[in-house]
Amino acid sequence: MLTSLRYLAGTAGPSGFGSRATAEEATAGAGDLRHVTAIITGATSGIGAETARVLAKRGARLVLPARSLKAAEEARARLRAECPDADVVVLPLDLSSLASVRRFVASFLDLGLPLNLLVNNAGKYADRFALSEDGVEMTFATNYLGHFLLTRLLLEKMAETARASGFEGRIVNVSSTIHSWFAGDDAVGYLDRVTRRKIPYDPTRAYALSKLANVLHTRALAERLREMNANVTANCVHPGIVRTRLIRDRDGLVTNTVFFLASKLLKTIPQAAATTCYVAVHPAVAGVSGKYFADCNEASPSRLGASSEEAAKLWSFSENITAEKIQKMSVHVSAGGFRLQVQSSNADRGMALA
Ligand SMILES: NC(=O)c1ccc[n+]([C@@H]2O[C@H](COP(=O)([O-])OP(=O)(O)OC[C@H]3O[C@@H](n4cnc5c(N)ncnc54)[C@H](OP(=O)(O)O)[C@@H]3O)[C@@H](O)[C@H]2O)c1
Repeated sequence: MLTSLRYLAGTAGPSGFGSRATAEEATAGAGDLRHVTAIITGATSGIGAETARVLAKRGARLVLPARSLKAAEEARARLRAECPDADVVVLPLDLSSLASVRRFVASFLDLGLPLNLLVNNAGKYADRFALSEDGVEMTFATNYLGHFLLTRLLLEKMAETARASGFEGRIVNVSSTIHSWFAGDDAVGYLDRVTRRKIPYDPTRAYALSKLANVLHTRALAERLREMNANVTANCVHPGIVRTRLIRDRDGLVTNTVFFLASKLLKTIPQAAATTCYVAVHPAVAGVSGKYFADCNEASPSRLGASSEEAAKLWSFSENITAEKIQKMSVHVSAGGFRLQVQSSNADRGMALA
């Protein structure tokens, strides 16, 4: 109740910011960002586009991966219209494809650029069931698995940049409060059942699972970064609820009416990008890792989201499913008997959950 009232009033929390802060306000204390090179996924629209705009305005060099190069070029043109000096590189990336993630990382590394900041923002809400080219449920593949592989392949580059530059590297995973709607089930087991069509596809539950995976990823990643002794942190955020293209599958009269009625409760896009930008660059977040933020303040994830055991289980599952060369094998992930069967010796050419 108190939390809802604080949200509605926009009351500032310990960070000095609240639900009504915009990304520009939340980064005002971050100073000049000309020393920062950032990859931001999903910057062609919505929250990612605003995140890119504000970071570019503060001087950061941006690498914008996108599945449509035309959309990425348009995003770059919009950024350059506002910040003529903005250094913006665009590269192709479809996060739902593990092969595309590998190609993107190879192209990025070939550029020889440093990497201080990775914002894993891209996401989708899929009304209908689909499998990715790797045989994984599409929402999970796009919102989580692609980002897992992307992060893993860029980790060494980030650690190396932090070592050479002396600046802390940061990874920000964009999750959602909806991660807490996935409860009372083990994530990997559910993914297995939904992928094999053993249970009906529920778009909201699939979305919630992918966002829970973002939270669990953050927890395990922070642990991994500590073990590596890397000067790189990982945190995740709930941006707030805002109308974007995320629910494009549901556009229509009912959705318009719901958003109209709820409009007073929603954020604007500049407000929705505030928490991402705050966690990405604000000096007050230095050294903070493995945490969940909402409205620019640390918040509590769900019980499942706070489970180190669940995080470790998802990490090992994700490592197995994204491994480049795996011999035909079965992986028993949980006591419940989850079984991953890779059909080809090259995971890029086909894997199935069985
Ligand atoms: N809007 C909300 O209320 C809300 C609430 C909580 C969390 N979030 C999270 O915020 C993040 C940003 O969402 P948004 O609301 O800004 O939605 P959006 O306007 O639809 O933006 C999503 C971005 O992700 C990109 N994307 C989707 N699938 C992709 C793929 N396979 N490969 C590469 N890029 C892909 C989209 O690119 P295309 O242009 O190619 O489609 C777009 O740039 C998401 O992670 C979402 O889950 C949003």
